[in-house]
Amino acid sequence: MAWSTLLLLDAGSALQIGTGSIVRAYGSVAVAAGGTVAIGQRTAIMQGSEIAVSRGAKVEIGNDVYVGAYSNMRSSRRIKIGDNVHLAQFVSLVGGQHSFIERDRLIREQPFEEGDVVIEDDAWLGVGVAVLSGVTVGTGAVVGAGTIVTKDVAPYSIVVGNPARMVGERQA
Ligand SMILES: CC(C)(COP(=O)(O)OP(=O)(O)OC[C@H]1O[C@@H](n2cnc3c(N)ncnc32)[C@H](O)[C@@H]1OP(=O)(O)O)[C@@H](O)C(=O)NCCC(=O)NCCS
Repeated sequence: MAWSTLLLLDAGSALQIGTGSIVRAYGSVAVAAGGTVAIGQRTAIMQGSEIAVSRGAKVEIGNDVYVGAYSNMRSSRRIKIGDNVHLAQFVSLVGGQHSFIERDRLIREQPFEEGDVVIEDDAWLGVGVAVLSGVTVGTGAVVGAGTIVTKDVAPYSIVVGNPARMVGERQA
């Protein structure tokens, strides 16, 4: 852990970092009470990245993962990143959203809808990708730069754009 990474660990939270993993400078890891961040082995979280975990929520990051600079993940329930995943710079994993249906109530006062985000093994997410809550990106999938992922991505598929559309598939 770099000396200038900001750690905000509430009482009763847990932060585990496996052997050979690093969290580079100028990022932050904030874990509310009952929350967990578990980082596997040989994983690199590059500079300026942020991990924020709400009360009782989880972020699990596997082995040999690369999280590019200025990425962020905000977990209201569970964000799970498998092994050998590569996230380029400025990737956002978004673990929830505000309800907004009642127009007579401020959006910020409406319930927060929580959802999991799962990035399976060997997926590659390009620069500036955002993955919205409730979405699973399948094993070995490729997500092009700038893509907004609103629905599950099939294993080994190649998706691009906003919203993500499938443009190909990796060969067996
Ligand atoms: C998606 C990507 C991997 C290329 O995959 P590919 O299967 O070779 O796709 P192609 O280049 O054949 O493009 C297929 C179509 O998708 C479009 N496309 C490709 N990448 C796109 C992107 N990021 N956003 C929107 N459209 C994209 C192409 O214009 C093409 O459209 P068309 O069929 O209408 O002509 C690549 O474009 C990309 O985005 N790489 C990420 C780079 C990056 O973030 N690097 C960070 C360093 S780790």
